[in-house]
Amino acid sequence: MDTNSKLWKSDHYYKKAGESSSAFDYPGMKVLKKYSIGASRILDLGCGDGTRLNYLSRKNNKCYGVDISKKAISLSKKKYPKCDFTASNLEKLSFKDNSFDLVYSAFVLEHLKNPQKMLKEATRVLEPSGVLILMAPNFGSPNRISPPGKYSRVKKLLVGVFSDLSRPFIKVNSLKWRKVTPIEINDPKEYSIDCDTTIEPYIGDLVPFLKNKNFKIIKSSSLWSQDSKGGSILNLVVKSLGKIGLYPFTNWGPHLLVVAKKI
Ligand SMILES: C[S@@+](CC[C@H](N)C(=O)[O-])C[C@H]1O[C@@H](n2cnc3c(N)ncnc32)[C@H](O)[C@@H]1O
Repeated sequence: MDTNSKLWKSDHYYKKAGESSSAFDYPGMKVLKKYSIGASRILDLGCGDGTRLNYLSRKNNKCYGVDISKKAISLSKKKYPKCDFTASNLEKLSFKDNSFDLVYSAFVLEHLKNPQKMLKEATRVLEPSGVLILMAPNFGSPNRISPPGKYSRVKKLLVGVFSDLSRPFIKVNSLKWRKVTPIEINDPKEYSIDCDTTIEPYIGDLVPFLKNKNFKIIKSSSLWSQDSKGGSILNLVVKSLGKIGLYPFTNWGPHLLVVAKKI
């Protein structure tokens, strides 16, 4: 059994996910809360134990969560009966077109096999003028690497800088994010954060990709504010340049947060 199949059956994994999604002062959560207030039908793609979705639930909205894990869905149904949870792969959703005015996904893109299929489904079920919110680690950034990433960082940096500088002049039709093999674990208790990464998302591609798919970008940030203190000299230089708003370093922070409106 591979790492993900083991984790998707594990209480321990979803307890950890629930703890992380209880960080309600995280910038992405504040943004989600803000957009949830005006929304009547909200969909969480990859809802885990449902903690994040429950936080957005109000009297005047209806909240739906989808996750591939039957374990996650049974935990979330027990914990938060007022929300509606379904076990399904995000690559094929059972909802009708234009069903939601807010669709979001938090820390899931990096665990998918095919994020583009998930984004196609997210777009389909989102009504025109509806809002899509995405957050994930920004592992595909030229200066970053996921825990399972095993490749030359120098090559990634050089190729990444070249891609960043050429990207404003090309049309981004597809997401060519690097695939990685999750770290093998025997017992879900051995889980360490993001050892189950399958793909390295990057905000630098995601934003032009969404624009190309007829989204208007309302907000995008690589959340430099969330970067760990210290690090190498290179990281300190890059962080200073990112924080003063110099492209492409603005895109090189630790997480991606994108708010986009379907046109
Ligand atoms: C790191 S957890 C994040 C959970 C939750 N969004 C949160 O922020 O706490 C990743 C979630 O993605 C789910 N997932 C991974 N691949 C999926 C897929 N193809 N379809 C649906 N859910 C998936 C996992 O079961 C897990 O709940």
